[in-house]
Amino acid sequence: MNFPVVRKRRLRKTPLLRDMVAETQLTAADLVYPLFINDEPHSRIPVASMPGIYQQSIDNAVIEVGQALELGVRSVLLFGVPSEKDQEGSNAWFEQGVTQRAIRELKRQFGQDLVVIADTCMCEYTSHGHCGVLMDGRVLNDPTLELLSRTAISQALAGADIIAPSDMMDGRIAYIRDSLDDAGYDDIPLMSYSAKYASSLYSPFRDAAESTPACGDRKSYQMDPRNAREALEEVLQDVQEGADIIMVKPALSYLDIISQVRQLTRLPLAAYNVSGEYSMVKAAAANGWINERDVVLELLTGIKRAGAEIIITYHAMDAARWLLKQ
Ligand code: PBG
Ligand code: ZN
Repeated sequence: MNFPVVRKRRLRKTPLLRDMVAETQLTAADLVYPLFINDEPHSRIPVASMPGIYQQSIDNAVIEVGQALELGVRSVLLFGVPSEKDQEGSNAWFEQGVTQRAIRELKRQFGQDLVVIADTCMCEYTSHGHCGVLMDGRVLNDPTLELLSRTAISQALAGADIIAPSDMMDGRIAYIRDSLDDAGYDDIPLMSYSAKYASSLYSPFRDAAESTPACGDRKSYQMDPRNAREALEEVLQDVQEGADIIMVKPALSYLDIISQVRQLTRLPLAAYNVSGEYSMVKAAAANGWINERDVVLELLTGIKRAGAEIIITYHAMDAARWLLKQ
């Protein structure tokens, strides 16, 4: 059947009709809010390239998380920014490390009302800023696995609800899973940054986390943006190694990957709406070139429609506020 019998506009006539047939519902519970936590007591330093985002102390992070919970945002992703870095990144697994203390304090304050996801990587803790062990200009794969495992165990011990390895070393999901199980944490899920691309959209994050590599780039471990089939191989590998949640990152330039991964596996799928994607929207909005509210809700809905049921985004608090008022 066709026009004039079929008229798709009939169901677009009023807001209630449109709501009735809407295929995608964005809610605050889908959103994960990333936090940058430093070692300076009582600090709240604006990240210049990310308006509205702060690198802050644990006490201030607790206040912000309280506000997030009130808006219905129930999960956070933690990035520790230690004051001391070394060649190996040893602050990553210290029991008194900034990330471990932040996890303990957030769980003490909020308990089961909050999901604390710990980003597990070496780049915020190493003096060279690479995500693994650096030797003669190369990032070594297998020696990095041991350091990641130590870090994951220390985060689980501190009380993290989910461990999220973001380093892109081969074999790390199996290795970390095994180490966590041996240490008695067989009930802690792994959210794997499975298809993480070597993107130019991470630069504002690297300001916030102070994790810009001192030499070279991350192209020998993160994925080439030209590849899609390879992302599916990465995902299958992580599923086999025991990942509980799969992630695609970035989100907006990789909606095709999100959609294909959604077809490939039945595991929960997360997408990371990264710092550069956030900053571009904020810059255009600050210039009055776009309507920030409408654009943010459209972009986040697009990520969900593509197939990601978990969305990690710096817009989380604003989006939740706008969703309440809709
Ligand atoms: C560190 C890490 C990065 C991001 C999340 N974890 C940066 C990188 O790989 O250089 C990027 C997040 C963002 O840009 O918002 N492994
Ligand atoms: Zn890293």
